[in-house]
Amino acid sequence: MSQPIKRVVLTGGAGQIAYSLAFRIANGDFLGPDQPIALHLLDLEISGQVLKGLKMELDDCVFPLLKEIKIGHVAEEMFGDVHYAFLVGAKPRGPGMERKDLLADNGKIFVEQGKALNAAASKDVRVLVVGNPCNTNCLIAMHHAPNIARNQFHAMTRLDQNRATFQLAKKANVDTKDVSHLTIWGNHSSTQVPDFVNAKIKGQRVEKVINDRKWLENEFIPTIQKRGAQVIALRGKSSAASAANAAIGALKSVTIATPNDDWFSSGIYSENNPYGIDQDLVFSFPCRSKGKGDVEIVPNLHLDPFLRDRLETSQKELLEERDLVRDLLP
Ligand code: NAD
Ligand code: LMR
Repeated sequence: MSQPIKRVVLTGGAGQIAYSLAFRIANGDFLGPDQPIALHLLDLEISGQVLKGLKMELDDCVFPLLKEIKIGHVAEEMFGDVHYAFLVGAKPRGPGMERKDLLADNGKIFVEQGKALNAAASKDVRVLVVGNPCNTNCLIAMHHAPNIARNQFHAMTRLDQNRATFQLAKKANVDTKDVSHLTIWGNHSSTQVPDFVNAKIKGQRVEKVINDRKWLENEFIPTIQKRGAQVIALRGKSSAASAANAAIGALKSVTIATPNDDWFSSGIYSENNPYGIDQDLVFSFPCRSKGKGDVEIVPNLHLDPFLRDRLETSQKELLEERDLVRDLLP
């Protein structure tokens, strides 16, 4: 028997990530092959023609699961009764910029969108903020949505997790599925901390398999921290298909039970975190889901002095970002 429809909104519908993400969601890659979907696509009024074109292409794919498409530029209308919100719509950075340089332009988008989610979305909505700088934008949005539990909001560090998985698998000459327990701690920025201390390869500690601490500290970590900038330098535009792929993985991990004793990375509200991080940030932690859309932070991971020092640096950057947007927080 067919299930009730799930409503999924995608902001930045006329942008490059959406051009990949919309088709993947419509194909069932996010909610599976039995879940009928309504797709809501929000972008600025000026992008109305592009949204119409996107709708035409989605229609022409005849995706069996895609039962309805709404397009528009009014957030409250597009957020109406949605169960999942991919908040992608925001300016991307260009060459030579840090993601936090976008705060002045992008931060205010998340004030309005937090309010609109609060007013119109289903109360059990799960939200993934992709638009950069995603941690602090997510913090802004959740503070403007008091009727939605803060643990329903996520900022995307899944692309960093995927990048780290690839680099470790390549170095160890194993399949990517052999890499597990990978945490990205902190900010989705050049201070993020890809954790090689607690990650595993074929169930063994990474350092046992890749017996090269220098490479892990001095090459692996910077490679992941700078991967987004490298893509921009080469493509002239920021990552898009890999970002869409990560967005699907990120919210899917929230909705399905985390397999075995593994975990995944997500930027979540730091209140009551067991790692001594400031209580009012969106910080990326190791997370587990029981499959109902709520995640828990995995406690008791060993943080050696090197990792702890890096975590402090990422926390400091997030505190600075929060200071920069004080006037956007209620
Ligand atoms: P893009 O410029 O191609 O598209 C952005 C779209 O957002 C545009 O169509 C624009 O009109 C729209 N937009 C702007 N303001 C909006 C608003 N208030 N409401 C709705 N739509 C609005 O950019 P893109 O490449 O799709 O990237 C989008 C964002 O995602 C950027 O901020 C980028 O830095 C970020 N990003 C994050 C990650 C991550 O890992 N967290 C990865 C890749 C990109
Ligand atoms: C990425 O990590 O690819 C995105 O955050 C885009 C960027 O600005 O690097």
